[in-house]
Amino acid sequence: MKRLTVPAIQRRKAGGITAEPLVMLTAYTARQAQLLDEHCDILLVGDSLAQVIYGLPSTLPVTLDMMIAHGAAVVRGSYHSLVVVDMPFGSYEESPQQAFASAARIMAETGCAAVKLEGGTAMAETIAFLTRRGIPVMAHIGLTPQAVNALGGYGARGRSQEEHAKIISDGKAVAEAGAFSVVVEGVIEPIAIALTQSLEIPVIGIGASAQCDGQVLVAEDMLGMFDRVPRFVKRYADMAALVSEAAATYAQEVRSRAFPGAEQTYQPK
Ligand code: KIV
Ligand code: NA
Repeated sequence: MKRLTVPAIQRRKAGGITAEPLVMLTAYTARQAQLLDEHCDILLVGDSLAQVIYGLPSTLPVTLDMMIAHGAAVVRGSYHSLVVVDMPFGSYEESPQQAFASAARIMAETGCAAVKLEGGTAMAETIAFLTRRGIPVMAHIGLTPQAVNALGGYGARGRSQEEHAKIISDGKAVAEAGAFSVVVEGVIEPIAIALTQSLEIPVIGIGASAQCDGQVLVAEDMLGMFDRVPRFVKRYADMAALVSEAAATYAQEVRSRAFPGAEQTYQPK
């Protein structure tokens, strides 16, 4: 199987409608990528690794080096999905030139095919700058976690007329700037539907609408690794319970000297 390309993802919305929704999940490690790859169209190396892997309180402390290390691991662990790597907070907002330098490092050092950055109208110039220089960009609008301090929290966006209009104009701006796709996160459903119907690029929803052109979730959230997850997460497994039960059984067998058994020990010939 050949790896999906940016144009192949874009062609999925040919004629303005995505017949088969795009499947996207996060992956941060090679093994996770191996397990998810065949089921997905896009693997996102999200800066959500801040909370999921590093126990950080927000995505703001994530560095370019962290994203590159995990991005390279995910590219090595996959061969089918398009790999998109998040640009971390502080690595792209200052200028299109700063964004290009950061994105070029991400692309060159990981082998990924595209980067993702947060922001709408304010980032349009940067998106155009990168796109014209051969770096495909996925935009991220609506609830943008890197702006948590400005937004005042992680609540759903778009309930006021003003916010509603801003999210719609952000979507138009990133599409016109050349983004190949856009993630819309945590918005009231009518906004997600309007964006999906009005933009020619695939609109990928998270906490958005089943009518979007695709869906993304943090893999650990949908695998049930966490007790507390946002309302928009559906848990498809209970990994936390599996891990906890396995550790409990192991601990009990170590303490009772039942492990290691005959099958796990070496004897002289
Ligand atoms: O970092 C991340 O995991 C993301 C997705 C949730 C869209 O940006
Ligand atoms: Na992110």
